[in-house]
Amino acid sequence: MGYQVQNFTRTEMSPVLKWQILTAMRFIWPEGFEGVNLDRTWICPGEFYPLHFIATDFTRDGSSKSAKIVISHGAVLQRDLMHCGETFRVLGLGGVYTLPAFRHSGVASDLVMKATDHILTRPRADVAIATCRPELVGWYSRFGWVPIKEGRIIPTTETENGQPLDEVLLMLFISEKGRRAETLFREEPIYFGRDVW
Ligand SMILES: CC(C)(COP(=O)(O)OP(=O)(O)OC[C@H]1O[C@@H](n2cnc3c(N)ncnc32)[C@H](O)[C@@H]1OP(=O)(O)O)[C@@H](O)C(=O)NCCC(=O)NCCS
Repeated sequence: MGYQVQNFTRTEMSPVLKWQILTAMRFIWPEGFEGVNLDRTWICPGEFYPLHFIATDFTRDGSSKSAKIVISHGAVLQRDLMHCGETFRVLGLGGVYTLPAFRHSGVASDLVMKATDHILTRPRADVAIATCRPELVGWYSRFGWVPIKEGRIIPTTETENGQPLDEVLLMLFISEKGRRAETLFREEPIYFGRDVW
């Protein structure tokens, strides 16, 4: 496949790419496009400063190359998170998908590897957080993500008494401060304050 992986901030991304990603996500994760999010026009919340890693291929009409189609996507996100009385700079990975017709060709592996390298080289990153279904733990582990546990992230604040997410928490321990806090992240609930990425 002649795809290429590039990254774009929200403002750099063309509307043609953005709307392909939104439409794919609407089918893959319909629960994210219901209720107050029925007319959602954002891929990831802007407050997390998303950097979108996008694999594109060309549509072929006859012999000529024409428009770009987004075959795979994943976003690197960032926020500060208070955990056990300390503030950590947390990066993350969300919205990872490949269009069904392009799966099992290594595209998402390539993209996730590039996004993970990007996360690991951010100078201010302490830890990184992602979540996945149990059957994808082995796949994310290939890229260095450490599976922690299911039910570890609470998508509310500590006082709101929220239910834990039933996905597996995956982490990277990046800075000295992040590595020192590994036990706290493994053992204490993480109050994310809202939906994870
Ligand atoms: C997971 C996903 C992104 C993988 O994309 P992809 O481009 O096919 O990934 P790759 O080709 O690089 O790797 C595929 C490998 O991942 C693993 N894999 C993918 N989906 C899997 C699943 N549902 N269960 C178990 N393993 C899976 C397999 O080991 C597979 O290896 P194979 O191709 O040798 O069989 C794609 O299946 C997808 O978009 N799924 C729906 C959305 C989703 O679940 N995203 C992850 C959110 S955490």
